[in-house]
Amino acid sequence: MATLTWYGHATIGLEIENFKLLIDPYFSANPAAPVTADEVEADYILVSHGHGDHIGDTLDIARRTGATVISNYEIITWLGKQGLEKLHAQHLGGGFHHPFGYLKLTLALHGSQLPDGSYGGNPCGFLLTTNDGKKIYLAQDTGLFGDMQLIGDEGLTLAALPIGDNFTMGPDDALRAVKLLNPQHVIPIHYNTFALIQQDAQAWAEQVAAETASKAVVMRPGETFDY
Ligand code: NI
Ligand code: MN
Repeated sequence: MATLTWYGHATIGLEIENFKLLIDPYFSANPAAPVTADEVEADYILVSHGHGDHIGDTLDIARRTGATVISNYEIITWLGKQGLEKLHAQHLGGGFHHPFGYLKLTLALHGSQLPDGSYGGNPCGFLLTTNDGKKIYLAQDTGLFGDMQLIGDEGLTLAALPIGDNFTMGPDDALRAVKLLNPQHVIPIHYNTFALIQQDAQAWAEQVAAETASKAVVMRPGETFDY
């Protein structure tokens, strides 16, 4: 069994075997965060792109916990310049066998500029195959793209998809994404953090139930889901 915690926005915790993973750790400036950045533990931090609501508290949490940060080459280079040493660069389409499983960086249609204006490379999503064969796709910030079908071909246990609109897919495109991805369970993310991305996740979950074979799991920030 593995556990996913949603911390609001696109911030996700995964407990896999004895490893704690934090994805896009946005706590201190996140109005939806149920805990503070100094309360969370991490062995690995995954950063999808350079925007402030995703790189978030990466520096502070990595310094305190000694977690290894995984991201694209450009963000890893930038984090190295900030003094972090436990870093692992990958890039789109590339996978690596980490102790917690095989992690591949996937396409994401978005931007990636870092908070100080530095170039953040291409944004990504994450496709994780755990050591016991579960497939977890975390889309993070992206618009809809047809190659989600290729990711769906892998046979997904679980997907997290943005539904907030304005900066990412909205509910209608996220529903189309579910049809391309066919995950057993799908968790909506990147909504209700700010006024610009207010959505009715329950209504979206009902549409997913009516039109697909996937089960949408609507979570409250801080809630966990076992899969
Ligand atoms: Ni973004
Ligand atoms: Mn974002």
